[in-house]
Amino acid sequence: MDLIIPQQELDAGEIAWRSPANIAITKYWGKFADQQPRNASISLTLNNATTTSVLTFTPKAVETDEISLQLFFEEQANPKFTEKVQKYFAKLLPIFPFLKQFDFTVHTKNSFPHSAGIASSASSMSALSLCLCSMEEHFFGKTLSDFDFDKKASYIARLGSGSACRSIYPIAALWGKIDGIDITSNDFALPLEGHVHPVFMDMHDAILMVSKAEKSVSSSVGHALMDNNEYAPARFEQAQKHNLFLLKALEEGDIKIFGNIAEREALSLHALMMTSEPPFLLMQPNSLAIIEKIRAYRKDTQHDIYFTLDAGPNIHLLYPDDIVTSVESFIKSDLAPFCEGGEWLADYVGEGPEQV
Ligand code: PMV
Repeated sequence: MDLIIPQQELDAGEIAWRSPANIAITKYWGKFADQQPRNASISLTLNNATTTSVLTFTPKAVETDEISLQLFFEEQANPKFTEKVQKYFAKLLPIFPFLKQFDFTVHTKNSFPHSAGIASSASSMSALSLCLCSMEEHFFGKTLSDFDFDKKASYIARLGSGSACRSIYPIAALWGKIDGIDITSNDFALPLEGHVHPVFMDMHDAILMVSKAEKSVSSSVGHALMDNNEYAPARFEQAQKHNLFLLKALEEGDIKIFGNIAEREALSLHALMMTSEPPFLLMQPNSLAIIEKIRAYRKDTQHDIYFTLDAGPNIHLLYPDDIVTSVESFIKSDLAPFCEGGEWLADYVGEGPEQV
């Protein structure tokens, strides 16, 4: 198919998608080539932490080879994000050559406060990639099945930010090649809906904001440090094992195995940071204080509450819906005091992106 739009068919338009963040249970940490993961990862899709992106396109008055784009974040022109997305669109030209035929404006906003210490790259890159796939469909017609449309959006999202490729799907997603499961790929994520027990479908994730500051070491620097981490080979084996156990636990509804893997993965991720050269630490004293509290509460109540962390100090507290009332009062009384400004966000597993 010729992916340049004939002059007479060019028109102006606007496409918008809202897309959620996701929380990895098995972690992607370490990459090679163009955003290929060193190991597969499995995530739950969140509901409340979302980015909405509105992509406006107008045919260029005079065609050039450059990307013409301006990005507004929360209604303010944002030169840093503009440059980032211009580069991203330029990288996508071999897939979407029509991107050089338009002047673009992107308006993007998050449902969560900007300085909440929540990474917005997954929600924002997945929202944008869905806008681009919808734009392609607008000009070239519906040539893909829904499954292939999502797979393509996931592929495109991955090129912007690895973990973004998992945000395309409702409930849960798997990204990365798993030996023995043919359909899996490093290029895109796949939906796990249909392989997830009901207990996980309305699982809660309370995001406990230990710090709202931007993290001191970016994910891309962290991934790169895995190249020379002497524990990396053992880590990649561990991830393979955890993924297989987790897939089974998700299917069977085994929340204890799920929780055990979630916590081991989070601590392994942070251990890898501490054993990088140079080493770095993203957990803070309050992260550890919260982890201790969670463990004590679990021991006392026998409730299934488990923690995980992203590449930052904030704690994600995972628990099933049937204990929401007691866990929320525990959060308010015992955990919120360790959060910056006492703040935490109540989120839960969600239905995935939506065109708006
Ligand atoms: O997608 P990136 O490059 O921001 O990396 C995400 C890394 C972790 O959040 C730590 C783990 C993951 O799988 O989401």
